[in-house]
Amino acid sequence: MSLADNESAQIPIIETVENARARIHQWKMAGESIAFVPTMGNFHQGHLALVKAANASGMRTVVSIFVNPMQFGKNEDLDTYPRSFDEDIASLSDCQVDMVFAPAVSEIYPDGVDGATAVHVRGLSDILEGEHRPGFFIGVATVVNMLFNIIQPDAAWFGEKDYQQLLVIRKMVRDLALPIEIHSVPTVREGDGLAMSSRNSYLDADQRKLAINLYRCLQHVVDSANEGMDYHYAVVHANQELTEAGFLTDYVVVRRQGDLEVPNKGDKSLIVLAAARLDGTRLIDNIPFELMPAR
Ligand code: PAJ
Repeated sequence: MSLADNESAQIPIIETVENARARIHQWKMAGESIAFVPTMGNFHQGHLALVKAANASGMRTVVSIFVNPMQFGKNEDLDTYPRSFDEDIASLSDCQVDMVFAPAVSEIYPDGVDGATAVHVRGLSDILEGEHRPGFFIGVATVVNMLFNIIQPDAAWFGEKDYQQLLVIRKMVRDLALPIEIHSVPTVREGDGLAMSSRNSYLDADQRKLAINLYRCLQHVVDSANEGMDYHYAVVHANQELTEAGFLTDYVVVRRQGDLEVPNKGDKSLIVLAAARLDGTRLIDNIPFELMPAR
C-alpha cells in the first residue's frame, strides 16, 4: 500500500470547534453537502446503520462522538457510560466517514455545563422520558443544536430506537427554522429482538435473558391491536408481565406517532413505548404500528 493509500484510509479525527469549522468551510466553498450523525460513541450496529444511511446520501459524512454531560441527571450514569473510542474508530472502517468530531467537554461548554445557554423544546420534552429524566431533553436539544451550528449539516440521521428524541429534534428544527433535513432509521435489534443499546453492556447474563421481555411485551401489545382487540388490556397485561419478570416499570403506553399525545378515537398511526429498569439498568424500546379497522 502506498503512503497516499494509507493516509486516505485514516479517518480525520477533529477535536476542536475551530478545526472542524475550517474543514467544513472548505467543503462548503467547494459546493459540497454534509450528512451528519451525532452519537455518544460505543458503537453497535444501530449506530453503524445511521452512518451507512448518511453515506448513502452521497454527501460528505461527519460523525460526532461526545458523551454529553448536560443530558445526564445528577444520579445517572455519566461516569460509567461506556467509552470505547479506538474500537469505535475501527468499526467505521467499512463506512465512508470524512470526519469524526470528538470534542472535549470544555470545547462544547466553555463556561461549564451549568452556565451554558440551553434549548427547551417545550411540551414534547416534558412527557414520558422527560418526566422520568427531568432536564434530559434540554441537554439533548442543546447539544444537538450546538453540534448543528458547528457542523452545519444539510441533513442529519437519528434512530427510531430513541423515538421521543427523534420527535424533539424534528420539533426543534421546525421551531428554530434550522435548514436541516432530519432522517430516521428503524431500530436495529439483536437476534432475539432486544433493541441494541450501549447500556445493554451493563446487563449480566441473567439480566440479559430477562431483558428480552421488554420487546416481547411491546410486541404483544402490537399483536393484540393487529388482532382487533382493545390494546388497553394488553398494556395493563404488559405492565404486569414486566413486573413479574423483575422490571421496575417507568411506563408502558400507546401514543400517537406524530406527537406522542394520547390517541383520540380515529387515530390510526400509533406507537407503543416503554421504559423499565432491570436492577440499575434502564432500558427503553418502542414499536410503531397502524391500527387496523375493527373486524
Ligand atoms: P447515542 O445513544 O449514542 O445514539 C446515537 C444515535 O444512534 C441516536 O440517533 C440513536 O437513536 C441511534 N441508535 C441507538 N441505538 C439504536 C438502535 N438500536 N437502532 C437504531 N438507532 C439507534 O442518542 C444519543 O446518542 C444522544 O442523545 C445524542 C443524540 C448524540 C445527543 O447527545
